[in-house]
Parts: sequence; C-alpha cells; structure tokens
Amino acid sequence: MPATIVRAQDNVTTRRLIAERKPGHSLPAPFYTSDEIFDLDLDAIFGQHWIFVASEAEIREPGDYVTVEFGKTSLLVIRDDDENVQVLHNVCRHRGARILTPGSGSVGNLVCGYHQWTYKPDGTLIWAASAADDFDTSCHNLRKVTFRSIAGLIYVNLSDEPNDDIDEVASLVEPYFEQHQLKRAKVAKQIDLIELGNWKLTMENNRECYHCDMHPELGCTYFITWGYPEDAIPPHLQETHERYLSAEAELEHKCVERGLAYKGIEQLDTRTMGFRVQREALDGEGESYSMTGAKLVNKLLGDFDDAKLGRLSMHTQPNFWCHFMADHAITFAVLPIAPGRTLVRTTWLVHEDAVEGVDYNVDDLTYVWRETNAQDAAFVELAQRGVTDPAYIPGPYVPSEYQVDAFCNWYIDKLNVHLDAEGAA
Ligand code: FES
Ligand SMILES: [Fe+2]
Repeated sequence: MPATIVRAQDNVTTRRLIAERKPGHSLPAPFYTSDEIFDLDLDAIFGQHWIFVASEAEIREPGDYVTVEFGKTSLLVIRDDDENVQVLHNVCRHRGARILTPGSGSVGNLVCGYHQWTYKPDGTLIWAASAADDFDTSCHNLRKVTFRSIAGLIYVNLSDEPNDDIDEVASLVEPYFEQHQLKRAKVAKQIDLIELGNWKLTMENNRECYHCDMHPELGCTYFITWGYPEDAIPPHLQETHERYLSAEAELEHKCVERGLAYKGIEQLDTRTMGFRVQREALDGEGESYSMTGAKLVNKLLGDFDDAKLGRLSMHTQPNFWCHFMADHAITFAVLPIAPGRTLVRTTWLVHEDAVEGVDYNVDDLTYVWRETNAQDAAFVELAQRGVTDPAYIPGPYVPSEYQVDAFCNWYIDKLNVHLDAEGAA
C-alpha cells in the first residue's frame, strides 16, 4: 500500500482517538502505547514546537558540546570559536554518519569518525580528504537548527516555519530569571534517567502534586499543597497550607523589596507555546531543596546576598520544567526515545565561582531530586504498565490535577492543528 494511503488511514484512526478523548480524563491507551502515535508525536509536537534542549551553562567554552536525542533526531548543542551558541544536526554531510556519540564534552573541531570529514564547531566543513578538485566544501556544512535562548535556556524548533510565539513568551518570562544570571552558572551535575513510560506520562506526572505524599524528601521543602484549589485542601495538609500562606506573604514582601518578579502567569493551553511561571516559597528554612530547606551552595547565583528566595519554577510545553533557587538551579528536559521509554535529563547548576567540596557537595546538592526522580520514574512505569493493560479505561482527573488536563488539552490541540495542516496540504 502506498505510504500516503497508510498515512491517511493512520490519520483517520488518530482523529477517531482524539474524538474519543474525554476532557478531564486521562488519554485513551494508544496515545501512550502505539508506535504510530509516537511517530505522530515526533512530527506534530517535537517537529513543530519549541523544545528545550540545554542551558548555555552546559557549553561555557568554545568547543563545549552536549548531544540531545529524541526520536530519530540527534542534535549537537555547541559553543563555536566566536563563543556563539550553535545547534547542528549530528548527521555528517558525506554519507550521513553520526559525528558525535551521545554525551557531552569538548572538541577542537568536529571530526566524523567514518572518513574524517572535519567541521568547525559552527558547522563549517573545512576538510574532506581526497575530494574531487571541483568539490565545493561550502555546500556541505552541517545543517543548522533554529534555536532561541530564553535567559540562557536553549530551545530548538525543527519546523521549516518555526512559530514565533516564543518571542512573546520570552518577553514575559525573562524578567523572572534576570537576577539568577544563568549565563554565569556552571554544571555541578547532570544525570540522565530512563523512565519506562511514554513521554506524556512523564509530563503528566510532573504537572500534579496529588501524589506528592509519596515524595518524603521533596516534601521537606516543597509545599505539597501545590495545585490544590484553596477550597479543596485535604484535612491532613491544612497545617502545611497555613505555613505556605505565611511563607508566601514573607516571600512576596521580599520580592517587592528586591524587584524580583514572582506573580504567577499560567497559559498552559491557551497559546502555541504553553507555559507557566511563578516564584513560590519553600518550606522549612525556605532556601533550597535540602532536607531542612537550608541552602546547599555557599556561593549564591548572580549577585544574590540572600538565600531565602524560594523557588522560581517554570514549565513550558511540551518537554521542560525548572526550579531556580538563590543558591542553585535545576533544569529538566524530557526527551522521547520510544513509546514506552523516555529520557529525563536533570541538570544542577551553580555559580561559576562555586567550588566543589568547598562551597557545595554534589551528593548533598542532588539528593532530594535524585530521590524524587527515582520515585517519579517508578510511578511513570506503573502508569505505563497499567495503560498497556486491555482493562485500562481513561480515568477522571481530580481538581488538583487541572494542569495535567491542561497539558493534554495543549497536546490534543496541537495534534489537531497538525492533522488539519496535513489534510489541507
Ligand atoms: S560519513 Fe562522515 S566522513 Fe563519511
Ligand atoms: Fe512526583
């Protein structure tokens, strides 16, 4: 059967599944399990929207690079010799070999391991051994990827016509990040974790704190009332809520005094690049994600002289969230590998002058989120196993899961937009 007919049949099936989706409920099983929908996600979501790949702090010096892989795509995020960020397809222009294997590091030039074609870090081809006399190197540079940095957070867009909603989102969120000065930060630790679940289950899990009683380490500082409507706080969290209100009042006062943006903006499913940003108080000492809330890094980010600034958290559809405290920042990138496999890359960032072993200890710095990520990975795996069971029926979200619903709304809307565009083509 010709590919176009197969594709048209797939689209009819997808339209039927979309029609079956009940708002306020988890998605029908194939959205989490089917190979066809996974391929569609790569086209319609990861091929069209702004995808977080890395922060500029990960590539501080010329030649520093990190590879980012999702679906069949592999990208090189690299600092070129002029200290500019470049994002390149990790596909040799000779016969297509991957140039760098997954990971991060530093290179002088990019040398393909197959026949040694050599590119500068900006992708310019500078050497192709034994090529014909009339071979034009300038026509064989590595292919560049459209990217945009928001306060040092690098987003790529693989579409031929990238949507420009990121410009307005950047103007709304950049003031929140300004004083954290991400461009003066460095990586303290990066951990790649494979979750045995669909990428949407990873994102859904992150958008609610209904399960946060199961995060004892995180719960030492994170107010696990997050996401609950004021009138639906469960009785066992009433005391926590009282502490939250008083910590919020203190934080708000401080933010006003220091000119720190803090008010929540939530546009998760009402625009092309759905996002949410807010600075909120932390419990305990209120400084950082430790077991007491006390800071974990002596040298604070930017020029901060006060560690008690809560957490600045941002979420962007479809694959990113972060927490910026006064002492360190953590970014999370969600990268689909297969229908039931997702890479979660967590990166801890500290001030460039913070000294490991003196100003911070990596084990302590990463403890709470290593534990939390492991707990979340177990939940995602349980969910994947359940939605794969023929007995699965989409279930209802409770009010505190409204952001999960917003994620699904955004996702379904973008699938529809993509299918409409394909139908019109
Ligand atoms: S495939 Fe890269 S040099 Fe031949
Ligand atoms: Fe969680």
